[in-house]
Amino acid sequence: MIRHFLTGEELTSGELEALIERALVLKADRGASNALAGRSVALLFDRPSTRTRVSFEVGVHELGGHPVILREAETQLSRGESSRDTAAVLGRFVHAIGVRTGPHPVVEALAEHSPVPVVNMLTADHHPCQALADLLTLRERFGRLSGLRLTYVGDGNNVAHSLMVLGAKAGIKVVVATPAELAPHPLVAQVAGAQAGPGGSVELTADPQGAAAGAHALYTDVWVSMGDEGDAAGRRELLAPYRLDEALLRLARPEAVALHCLPAHPGEEISAEVLYGPRSAVWDQAENRLHAQKALLELLTQPAPAPPR
Ligand code: CP
Ligand code: NVA
Repeated sequence: MIRHFLTGEELTSGELEALIERALVLKADRGASNALAGRSVALLFDRPSTRTRVSFEVGVHELGGHPVILREAETQLSRGESSRDTAAVLGRFVHAIGVRTGPHPVVEALAEHSPVPVVNMLTADHHPCQALADLLTLRERFGRLSGLRLTYVGDGNNVAHSLMVLGAKAGIKVVVATPAELAPHPLVAQVAGAQAGPGGSVELTADPQGAAAGAHALYTDVWVSMGDEGDAAGRRELLAPYRLDEALLRLARPEAVALHCLPAHPGEEISAEVLYGPRSAVWDQAENRLHAQKALLELLTQPAPAPPR
């Protein structure tokens, strides 16, 4: 049983598969679970959000619980109270804590000192809840995950990292095409490869066309992530050859879908034709945040098994 969900590395392949299957059940009947009845979940945001904020708030409500939305600027964290003290105090009130912030070590510090499970709702390094929704979307579209080829093109960012970790763990061949300057972190690639499930792998390349060939899904994300605004012009120049457009999609399998975690900038990292076209799965992908995160919250807050007698 996992304690926190910070990168996705915490889950075994079997637990991940079970979580995705459970999300399908929860999607089929949104009122199926009361796992958070009488419980509360703190959701702490230090960065903007549309999907994560709404899907977590609605998800906690649908599980019978109460979401407590906190904007960091309105808490004592903004006046210097430590992550350690904040986690200890929140843990006296709520049964789980979700955190969206920039530096990944902040989430790690909260988790270290929290008596209740901590969920990473996005850091600059990882976005594992997004990857759960992405896997759910692929599972729906293809009826399986193991053996699929998922190609990500663009910036080797938090979204790419989480796809590598959780995609490979689910048995997917994850191919990530980025300019060398914006390649994913080598340590993440190493861990993702080491934790890959049967059939899963991670391949890094600078060639978007080669990466797209034979793919079941093409995925991209913004070229300028939150916190990267200072380098926007340089990134746009480097990433121009990595746009997800019709020409790239034609290289993938005929049944391939286009994915994007959103928010999108049509005409920049993805063409409007692809984003709004018949092969786009992005709206299902956005909705699936809700169902995947409900399955995750169920897993994290289930009562610990009784100790052996
Ligand atoms: N995909 C995603 O995390 O969206 P938000 O930033 O709107 O939460
Ligand atoms: N890579 C993007 C994802 C937004 C959901 C960012 O960090 O801004």
